[in-house]
Amino acid sequence: MKNILVTGGAGYIGSHTCVELINAGYNPIIVDNFSNSEKFIVDRIEEITGQKIQLIEGDCVDERLLLSKLKDIKLEGCIHFAAYKAVGESAQQPLKYYQNNIGSLVSILSLLEKMKCPNIVFSSSCTVYGQPDQLPVVESTAMKPAESPYGRTKQICENLLEDYYNSGKGVKALALRYFNPIGAHPSALIGELPLGVPNNLVPFITQTAAGLREKLTVFGNDYDTPDGTCIRDYIHVVDLAKAHVASIDYLLSQNKSLLDHVNIGTGNGNSVLEVIESFESVNGVKLNYEIGSRRDGDVEKVYADASYAQNLLNWNTELSLKDALKDAWKWQVSLK
Ligand code: UD1
Repeated sequence: MKNILVTGGAGYIGSHTCVELINAGYNPIIVDNFSNSEKFIVDRIEEITGQKIQLIEGDCVDERLLLSKLKDIKLEGCIHFAAYKAVGESAQQPLKYYQNNIGSLVSILSLLEKMKCPNIVFSSSCTVYGQPDQLPVVESTAMKPAESPYGRTKQICENLLEDYYNSGKGVKALALRYFNPIGAHPSALIGELPLGVPNNLVPFITQTAAGLREKLTVFGNDYDTPDGTCIRDYIHVVDLAKAHVASIDYLLSQNKSLLDHVNIGTGNGNSVLEVIESFESVNGVKLNYEIGSRRDGDVEKVYADASYAQNLLNWNTELSLKDALKDAWKWQVSLK
């Protein structure tokens, strides 16, 4: 079986990707320091797939640790998820974000070079576009200054990959620009585990519906959109996970050095109110919410043109917004 190093493999997108890698016949090796994830998730991946997972507990900024743990292993590829991702915190603690998010990519690239493994999939984000001038967003859409230090670390990591690619070391790299991942595995054994108060919409919705939060605040209804609330491209995390498997398949099929950037979204935009209504109707649950003021740094609308991913990776989304909201709720209920 082909070994794929998955940094942050116990995290939200990482765990779902490990399941899909195993389903596709790959052997994921997880590196995680559990700074924003839980060990039991690794057991759950094993439970879903019936496969034992090799786990390296540690920080992927620590290249020496990884080298020592991986010295007898032939690596075919790496999916590098591990990073901090809280927008608000990144403004308070920028050094933490620069050190970890950029430091870990440096260390992973250096590790892969020593291990003679050229294939890397990097977790980027549609945040690199800022508020784009053009919708849907294509990969060549001009980037705007990042709205947060978090967003800037993603832009810098993409620049770093470009410099590394240009150095002629033979890397084969895909930077996947995720739109808004939501939902959970249909087994309800793995899902998103936000630390403290969730920043993201769907975990806030499910925690409110479960009675853990009193009410959801919709951040503004005076935007220039049909119902006044912001529009995003919400993608089921299982579809997103499968895009990573397709990316690894693609990299392994290529024999020349490459660097490419790929939007991973559904191509549809939905407003905050549409998500709320959809959640209520698919789950038969009433949500307590109110309209509040805008949140700093929010973009009005952003959704992907997903055709490049479809053509390059031979991948397409299979699940709907309703599927994602049903699975997110099933996961929330299972946590009680
Ligand atoms: C956020 C980050 C983005 C990051 C992504 C990772 C910000 C500004 N952006 O994206 O950089 O890549 O998460 O998942 O934080 N909303 C509410 N009430 C809430 C929470 C959210 O109305 O309690 C609205 C937001 O205003 C937004 C939508 O829901 O319109 C989605 O918000 P969120 O889930 O935080 O995602 P993004 O802001 O798109």
